[in-house]
Amino acid sequence: MAERRWWREGVLYQIYPRSFADSNGDGIGDLCGVIDRLDHLEWLGIDGIWLSPIHPSPNEDWGYDVSDYLGVHPELGTLDDVDELVAEAGRRGIRVLLDLVPNHTSDRHPWFRERPELYVWADAPPNNWRSVFDRRPSWTLDGERGRYYLHTFAGGQPDLDWRNPEVPAEFERILRFWLDRGVAGFRLDVVNVLYKDSELRDEPPARPEDPPLLRELGMRRIHSMNQPEIHDLLQDWRRLCEEYEPPRILVGEVYAFQVPHWASYYGNGDDQLHLSFNFQLMYNPLVAAKLSAVVAEVEHELPAGAWPCWAGSNHDGGRLASRWARGDERLSRCGLMILLGLRGTPFLYYGDELGLLDGEVPPDRRLDRAEPGRDAGRTPMPWSRAGDWRDPWLPLVDTSRNVADQRVDADSTLHFTRELIALRRRLPDLRVGSYRELESPEDVWAWRRGEGCVVAVNLGVEEARLEVEGRIELSTDPERGGESFAGHLAAGEGVILAGDPSK
Ligand code: NOJ
Ligand code: CA
Repeated sequence: MAERRWWREGVLYQIYPRSFADSNGDGIGDLCGVIDRLDHLEWLGIDGIWLSPIHPSPNEDWGYDVSDYLGVHPELGTLDDVDELVAEAGRRGIRVLLDLVPNHTSDRHPWFRERPELYVWADAPPNNWRSVFDRRPSWTLDGERGRYYLHTFAGGQPDLDWRNPEVPAEFERILRFWLDRGVAGFRLDVVNVLYKDSELRDEPPARPEDPPLLRELGMRRIHSMNQPEIHDLLQDWRRLCEEYEPPRILVGEVYAFQVPHWASYYGNGDDQLHLSFNFQLMYNPLVAAKLSAVVAEVEHELPAGAWPCWAGSNHDGGRLASRWARGDERLSRCGLMILLGLRGTPFLYYGDELGLLDGEVPPDRRLDRAEPGRDAGRTPMPWSRAGDWRDPWLPLVDTSRNVADQRVDADSTLHFTRELIALRRRLPDLRVGSYRELESPEDVWAWRRGEGCVVAVNLGVEEARLEVEGRIELSTDPERGGESFAGHLAAGEGVILAGDPSK
């Protein structure tokens, strides 16, 4: 795979550092733990990892409230550990992306006291905007200053004022600091929210046809996100990434609600984000008609040259094995087959490869302050039945789906995921081929990739027929594979077929 195209053709893997692997037994996952487990990722066939924030943080939002962008949280490690991780991962052909949080800092970042002009202030709340965490007003009075500051998220996460040129100047230094250390790029937290309306106008009320998130918030997001200035900034950052050799990449988190808005963050297709997360897929149920409609719209709206990316799980939305599959192993595998079979770069979330479910977090162990809490999707990675964690920061209760057991079971979801990744390497059509949906019965979603490859998943509870030909390269059913497809899909079965369909 060409070096310059790794982010289009490879498979990425999100690590939530506190929960991935603990190297020193304090119950908190850390960077040395990630280094210790690189062999697992290499064996799986991963091309790049994205680390959720590793910087010092008072953890009001578990790292997404940064108090020093140039440091490493002492519980997670040191700058030397980052360097070692980048080097060790690089030796295995794995690139490292960091998570950059540019919309807000922690209120304990020194800037908040020493350089208040970097933030958004008002003498009195100037509008009806509300925090997406608790639906309360997103303006809070700062006792010391007697003025109100804006926070899109928690009160401890004041929004930066991107209209002050000192803010982009600071962030350019931050980007370079990490890129110079060899990181492959960044996942950009809520990147479509950085700029706010210059007049801070009221948001209009939500309408019945708006997505649930907006209806819960009671308002649309016309003025508090998707402002045109963001596109100039992304062009600047794209140019900056391309000064490096090999070029570095930008992966945006874009909760834009509408696909055309989301697509606009790719600019002309090659001058803004390299990849833009699309949450329409993740937050739809595992229903063929719904998911295929999302993909059809994405394929339609994407500018020429742009490349989609897909995730079924993350640290906000929890794990696909719970949300999509409700614990049904066959459906988890269908979910993985969808992610890895669509046109675009798949992002696995740690544990997806095991069909890992959301964890059990009793109310007295709850840590996340957002509503609803997101702890269940952030519980520790079960490396073995014993768990391998001493007194972890979030409970690890169910270790029945764990790496050690699945590693010795050739029929496990772990092996299935590895085979899916290997198949992408083997079949260029599956990696880079075009997407074309095929006609299929109601609960089946089937598409052709390029000329020679078909992906089909039966998400229903009845067996189904599908009139396509090809050899079964991989099925969610470990009993099947190698034979030619006879048009029959069991309930909950997914297959990848290859071979010239006309023969
Ligand atoms: C999106 C992140 O994914 C989420 O975890 C965080 O709480 C918010 N942005 C605020 O940074
Ligand atoms: Ca530790």
